[in-house]
Amino acid sequence: MSIRKMNSADIPAVLKIQGELAFQDWNERQYEQEIKAPYTYSVVYETEGNIVGYAVFHLLGADSELLSIAVSESAQRNGIGSKLLQAGLSQLDLDKSDCCFLEVRENNLKARRFYERHGFTLFGIRKKYYADGENAALYRTENRSDIDPSQKGV
Ligand SMILES: CC(C)(COP(=O)(O)OP(=O)(O)OC[C@H]1O[C@@H](n2cnc3c(N)ncnc32)[C@H](O)[C@@H]1OP(=O)(O)O)[C@@H](O)C(=O)NCCC(=O)NCCS
Repeated sequence: MSIRKMNSADIPAVLKIQGELAFQDWNERQYEQEIKAPYTYSVVYETEGNIVGYAVFHLLGADSELLSIAVSESAQRNGIGSKLLQAGLSQLDLDKSDCCFLEVRENNLKARRFYERHGFTLFGIRKKYYADGENAALYRTENRSDIDPSQKGV
C-alpha cells in the first residue's frame, strides 16, 4: 500500500477508475499533459500492485487547485481518499498564504461531505457550470493568514 507519483504507465488504470465512477471525462492525452506539467502534482494509491485511487493537483501557492480525486468504488470509505487529499495538501503551506480551491457538482453530496470533513469551506455556487446544466459548488481551504490571530486559538 503506497502513494506515489503518477506516471504514464498508470494512465490505463486511472482511466478505468474514472470510467467506473463516471464523474469526469478526461482522455489519455489530458492525463499525459498533467503528468508533464511542472506545476502538477498527481499521485496514485497502489495496493498489491493495483491502482485503486488517484488525485491531480495544481500546486500554485495561493491559487492551488484540486482538479480530480477518485477512489475505486470497492475501495472507498477506507481512508484512501483522505490519504490522497492529504498528499497534495501537505505540499502547501496552509498556515501561510497557500490555499487550495476545488469545484464539485452541487449534487455530489458524497464528495462534498468528504471535502467538508477535510476543512474545505463552501464559498460560492456557480450556476449551470457543467455542460448538463448542473451547478458547481466552489470550495476552498481556509486561508489561516486571513484569520485574526486572536481567533486562532493558538
Ligand atoms: C470522494 C472520494 C474520493 C472519497 O474517497 P474515500 O476513499 O471513500 O474517502 P475516505 O474513506 O478517506 O473518507 C470517507 C469520507 O468521505 C465521506 N463519504 C464517503 N462516502 C460517502 C457516502 N457514501 N456518503 C456520505 N459520505 C461519504 C464521509 O465523510 C466519509 O467518512 P466516514 O467514512 O468516516 O463517514 C470517493 O467517494 C470517490 O472517488 N467518489 C467518486 C469520484 C468523485 O466524486 N470525486 C470528487 C469529484 S472531483
